[in-house]
Amino acid sequence: MHATDSATAHVGKGVVVTGGAKGIGLGIAQRFVREGATVIIADIDMDAATEAVRDLGERAIAMETDVRDEDSLRLAVEVAVESAGQLDVMVNNAGIIAVAPLIETDAAQWIRLLDINVVGVAMGSKVAAKQMIAQGRGGCIVNASSGGGRHGVANVSQYCASKAAIIMLSQSLSQELAADKIRVNCYTPGHIMTPLWEDILSGMGEALGRSREETLEAFLATIPWGRFGTPEDVASTVSWLCTPDAEYISGQCIAMNGAELPW
Ligand SMILES: NC(=O)c1ccc[n+]([C@@H]2O[C@H](COP(=O)([O-])OP(=O)(O)OC[C@H]3O[C@@H](n4cnc5c(N)ncnc54)[C@H](O)[C@@H]3O)[C@@H](O)[C@H]2O)c1
Repeated sequence: MHATDSATAHVGKGVVVTGGAKGIGLGIAQRFVREGATVIIADIDMDAATEAVRDLGERAIAMETDVRDEDSLRLAVEVAVESAGQLDVMVNNAGIIAVAPLIETDAAQWIRLLDINVVGVAMGSKVAAKQMIAQGRGGCIVNASSGGGRHGVANVSQYCASKAAIIMLSQSLSQELAADKIRVNCYTPGHIMTPLWEDILSGMGEALGRSREETLEAFLATIPWGRFGTPEDVASTVSWLCTPDAEYISGQCIAMNGAELPW
């Protein structure tokens, strides 16, 4: 029987959140800090990371991290270990989107997006797993996929392909790391209002010949719950996945999407 008290769920834990300076990552970082963890906000945008840390207090640490650089990911893990004593949770959240018809893309654009969205998550998982295996006490890795990883969307093929890869990456790692009691899951959010949406609204608006407002309304109309999601809608699930209440859950992807289908 587990009965985790959410207010103290992560007291004393060391957590790294990539892309933790804004949007969903910031919501996840805020949640873990509130629940007692020390959180490394590992982001390429140091202005935003510094601002986030200022608001979150001394258990949040900003680290300049580019998920395309394995060494900078390893450093973020080392800082978590130095600050909290160990690494308990790695949230590979950083990701970008590109909106373009396939025939207007080139290999360099594909490689850049896959480097951040897929290789960055794989290397973040790698450095976290190495640390957790060395510690010998298990741990949790949680990766950002998307509803777009479960079904394709016109003009977003690079992104959807990258997010589908995250589901299989997470499933594979869950099997590979189970003997070390490291659980690997991923989240597949629907439409969560964050800075990323500026890129989506302008890109989709352009591709479909709609204004920003028309595009926003069209997306909203697809959400049965009647509102866009918030970073906290994702953070609450990620936090729970990293508690003993979810001890038998690994290799899963969990949607938070206001009842959208087929996600
Ligand atoms: N917002 C949504 O509706 C939605 C839906 C499904 C999935 N997701 C996924 O959730 C994750 C977070 O999305 P978001 O909406 O908060 O995005 P966002 O653009 O609002 O924030 C992303 C953060 O990642 C950081 N980042 C970008 N490239 C980086 C790099 N190379 N190294 C380190 N940090 C980097 C950015 O600086 C930023 O702080 C992404 O992986 C995204 O694909 C978002």
